[in-house]
Amino acid sequence: MIRRSVVLGCGGYLPKKIVTNDDLAKLVETSDEWIVKRTGIKARHIAGPDETTSEMALAAARAALADAKIEAKTVDLIVIATTTPDNTFPATAAKVQAKLGLERGFAFDVQAVCSGFVYALAVADNFIRLGQARTALVIGAETFSRLLDWNDRVTCVLFGDGAGALVLGVEEGRGDKSDRGILSTHLHSDGRYYDMLRTEGGPGTTGASGHVQMEGKEVFRHAVVRLAEVVDEALAANDMKPEEIDWLVPHQANQRIIDGTAKKLNMASERVVTTIAEHANTSAASIPLALAVAVKDGRIKRGQIVLLDAMGGGFTWGAALIRW
Ligand code: ACO
Repeated sequence: MIRRSVVLGCGGYLPKKIVTNDDLAKLVETSDEWIVKRTGIKARHIAGPDETTSEMALAAARAALADAKIEAKTVDLIVIATTTPDNTFPATAAKVQAKLGLERGFAFDVQAVCSGFVYALAVADNFIRLGQARTALVIGAETFSRLLDWNDRVTCVLFGDGAGALVLGVEEGRGDKSDRGILSTHLHSDGRYYDMLRTEGGPGTTGASGHVQMEGKEVFRHAVVRLAEVVDEALAANDMKPEEIDWLVPHQANQRIIDGTAKKLNMASERVVTTIAEHANTSAASIPLALAVAVKDGRIKRGQIVLLDAMGGGFTWGAALIRW
């Protein structure tokens, strides 16, 4: 028997303010047609002046705890994946811990940009499997809109804000793919591509958080190749075939990247959870938000196989295979 991290609940939070492509076309020289054709994005939610990463993370965490039907006090680990913390330090996870009324356990942030949620999930899974935590909140939360140059049409059309959370608990499993829970996680990075997707400076260089800069075509090219590799790796590690996957829940960066991975897996679009049209790219929040949508509307059911994949700045990329 081995220890497995199992999903007990999930939830999401989106800011009320919706900004459509037509709204953006009033700010920069772009069009709904251009954005939809190149990315699949139609609208994005944007945080209001009083909506912070910690507030959104807290709302998603509360929704996930309610879905799991457990009280916050049972949580002994909080990991938040974010590129947009409330403060440069301390970790946003510490603020969420306090807002949940917790005085024990441990809480910290993980930074892997758009791959952040898969990284955070892997970290929490390892703590649970080692017996160092029993109940974990894994959150992806972003106010990415605050990193954007709203005069730069190349980047400002791509991103949105929001938060999603999973509650993980512990169960004994047999150690094979019939187990419930996280079956495996696979993380990669290649820092040679550091400059391809980054902010212009940061607290340790310019003293400011800086705006997003991106070599869009290079990001696109690498994403398609790396995601195809890592989903193969996840399937091989579990002796699984693509047809055994019930749902692909990818990071929502670009509809064309998502379609590329689905094609590689020979998966019909009905088995792919996509929220890019309404949410845009919410960085580390995109996967847990998509999970929250598909669990709430009844698509993802207990016992089904769910494949997560993500790629982001660094470059970082990764995948996780879960029996829900
Ligand atoms: N509206 C209208 N025209 C635009 C816009 C816009 N919002 N943005 C760029 N253009 C113009 C460019 O200026 C260029 O004009 P030019 O030919 O006169 O020079 C033209 O459109 C083509 O620009 P490209 O950058 O070549 O467009 P491309 O087809 O590569 O699409 C895009 C750009 C959508 C960013 C694409 O490269 C892409 O999706 N890359 C992946 C990057 C990504 O998803 N990033 C998200 C963050 S990373 C992540 O989460 C994995």
